[in-house]
Amino acid sequence: MFLKKTVEDVELEGKKVLVRVDFNLPLDPDTGLPTSDSRIKATLPTLEYLILRGAKLILCSHLGRPGGQVVESLRMSKVVPPLSQLLRRKIVLASDCVGEEVRQKAKVMSEGDILLLENLRFHPEEERNDAEFARELARPADVFVNDAFGVSHRSHASVVGVAALLPAVAGFLVQKEVSFITGALENPSHPLALLLGGAKVKDKIGVLENALDKVDLLLLGGGMAQTFLHFQGYKVGGSEVEKDKADFVASIMKKAQRKGIKLLLPQDVVVTRDIRNPDSTKVTEISSMPSDFTIADIGPATVNEFSEELRKCHTIAWNGPMGVYETPQFASGTHALAHLLSQISATTIIGGGSTAEVVEELGLSDKMTWVSTGGGASLMLLEGKKLPGVEVLLDK
Ligand code: 3PG
Repeated sequence: MFLKKTVEDVELEGKKVLVRVDFNLPLDPDTGLPTSDSRIKATLPTLEYLILRGAKLILCSHLGRPGGQVVESLRMSKVVPPLSQLLRRKIVLASDCVGEEVRQKAKVMSEGDILLLENLRFHPEEERNDAEFARELARPADVFVNDAFGVSHRSHASVVGVAALLPAVAGFLVQKEVSFITGALENPSHPLALLLGGAKVKDKIGVLENALDKVDLLLLGGGMAQTFLHFQGYKVGGSEVEKDKADFVASIMKKAQRKGIKLLLPQDVVVTRDIRNPDSTKVTEISSMPSDFTIADIGPATVNEFSEELRKCHTIAWNGPMGVYETPQFASGTHALAHLLSQISATTIIGGGSTAEVVEELGLSDKMTWVSTGGGASLMLLEGKKLPGVEVLLDK
């Protein structure tokens, strides 16, 4: 259940509403243009609702990581064409996110107008959650709406700072993200499975610890599984192993066993002599891993076993690819499980970041129950933690 006030709980007509959105769109390295408008689409229900209710919209976002200085290639002007096309409205762009120009532009706004502020992270004060900077951001507005789920794990001025200065409520995206992800873990239809991948165990410690109190089934793939396999006594050839995780892995295996949680590791893997040279690939059982090869993906028998188990589940949360999915030769495991999840009737919750990227690339987003727009933020919820950018909003 979502216990914070939303845009439906505040007076909006004629109000200047500062909306924190996450328009951190992926940019094409060659053209510099956005390659996906999903993050804009995800926030449209909130923006359209605000327009319909007669609010004046002041939108603010970051784009990339400019490090507190102006970076020409990260100007918000890149977001204007897709935003204006999707909203079918004119967008007024400010040349900064604070200051006299913003105040003047805000002063002459009419109901339904949209003012887009320049990249928040051109100012180092944004990431420092500087109190004066937050005051300047809040100054032209009457109400604050957080619809930037993707940065709700960050205690930045535009996420946390402004929320203490204005009546602060959630947008529909934040409401849905938190409800779907926490709902899947806290109140699932069982059996509940967590399919966990990605490069390192160290990035998933909190998720693993939290999961063992909730799930019925834990399936591990990706680089992190190598470390588990190593400490289970398997030889993993040239694959990277996090040697300092011996105790952690042992504690997870023990806890899973004690709680009766089925924990599955890959039984076969796609291996290569050189990850950058995918010509030398083959499939091998994990028990006969050649010493001069490196694991790059889960193998077909593992895909079958994972699929069989996942088909029995009613709720599935997935975070992290099963292999080096950026290289087509090592993407089969990740793709096969994405397709499986898109075809079964279970509630499927897909974590943000690379997992969401894969699902989107395959055109499967619409076939999942929920695909998160936030990598770090969804991970924090899977760790069972609260998001600072949500906690600071008004209680219902
Ligand atoms: C994201 O892309 O995950 C969000 O926009 C957050 O970006 P950040 O990791 O640079 O804070």
